[in-house]
Amino acid sequence: MTWRTVIATLATFLTTIVVAFWLINEPARMQKAEDGFAGRSMEAGAIIYANNCTRCHGPQGEGLPGLAPALNTETLFDGTRITEVGWAGTLQDFVYSTISGGRPLQSAGTTWPQRMPTWSTEYGGPLRHDQVRDVTAFVMNWGRAYDENVIELQANQSDMTDMESFEPVGIDIFSPELPAGNPDNGETLTVSLGCTACHIQTEVGPAWLAENDPDGKGIGTRANERFLSADYNGMATNAEEYLRESIVRTNDYVVEGYEPGIMVATYGEQLTKQDLSDIISYLLNLK
Ligand code: HEC
Ligand code: HEC
Repeated sequence: MTWRTVIATLATFLTTIVVAFWLINEPARMQKAEDGFAGRSMEAGAIIYANNCTRCHGPQGEGLPGLAPALNTETLFDGTRITEVGWAGTLQDFVYSTISGGRPLQSAGTTWPQRMPTWSTEYGGPLRHDQVRDVTAFVMNWGRAYDENVIELQANQSDMTDMESFEPVGIDIFSPELPAGNPDNGETLTVSLGCTACHIQTEVGPAWLAENDPDGKGIGTRANERFLSADYNGMATNAEEYLRESIVRTNDYVVEGYEPGIMVATYGEQLTKQDLSDIISYLLNLK
């Protein structure tokens, strides 16, 4: 054997060991990356759930009587529920698509007076697809208590990419500057975010439409007057700022006759600049 052959043999041998070692460890590495991803997705989902879903489905998914059904329940995870509604796909897809698209009020067999709102931006809701996916992962995780198989159903979770690009507008009323608003989109958002449930369908919050207001003024007109009134204690100096403040810092100034803490206080974390601008431009039109 020449020295060349010895070196070549040794090199081949070493390469084989390195490749074998890598091959043995790769699945573990992949699994670790996937577990890490699923964990982050679920954590993000928990926050989205707390901000958007607890008021109807309860903090632990136990459901609230008269508002919305339980999600943390065996019948959702053992297949009873999807069989009942005639869903042919997987449970994961059922949960994902219900959250995305919501349910129309007239959906067959519904016994709930309210509708399940639309959440995906695809259908005019406030959540991007990755956020819908995260909150789906969070809901599906309850299934662990009932059925070990649901963990596998979470496998088809894909990119995290636009998670990073989501920038909530925050709770400052002067910055960032808002882009031009689209009132039609704003109107859609006020429905999917549930604003209209308090401000139009009921009188839980001050009426938006002139015909429902005792003084016959829509919110667009009132917004021009509120910040000038004697009891006003906020920071706004014009109607746009007043509306922005009312939405992202709702408890700074509380309209007379209402209690603080009733309106959802987390919109600054859920809305982008564009969403907020769209909503404000819609409200300004409601003279
Ligand atoms: C305004 C109240 C309300 C809010 C807020 C709400 N839901 Fe619902 N949700 C409902 C109602 C009502 C139903 C039942 C609709 C039906 O059966 O027609 C429902 C149904 C569902 C279902 C299907 C359950 C089943 O058994 O058919 C899922 C999953 C769900 N909601 C998840 C969510 C998630 C996740 C959020 C937060 C992003 C959320 N919901 C926010 C009212 C609400
Ligand atoms: C759970 C009920 C509820 C929901 C949901 C809700 N609001 Fe309100 N809103 C209130 C209440 C109550 C007040 C009055 C107390 C206050 O000023 O904070 C109010 C006040 C306001 C005001 C000031 C009204 C005025 O006459 O000066 C605006 C503007 C407003 N909300 C916009 C919105 C928008 C936009 C959404 C959805 C993104 C929304 N609200 C969701 C209950 C709600």
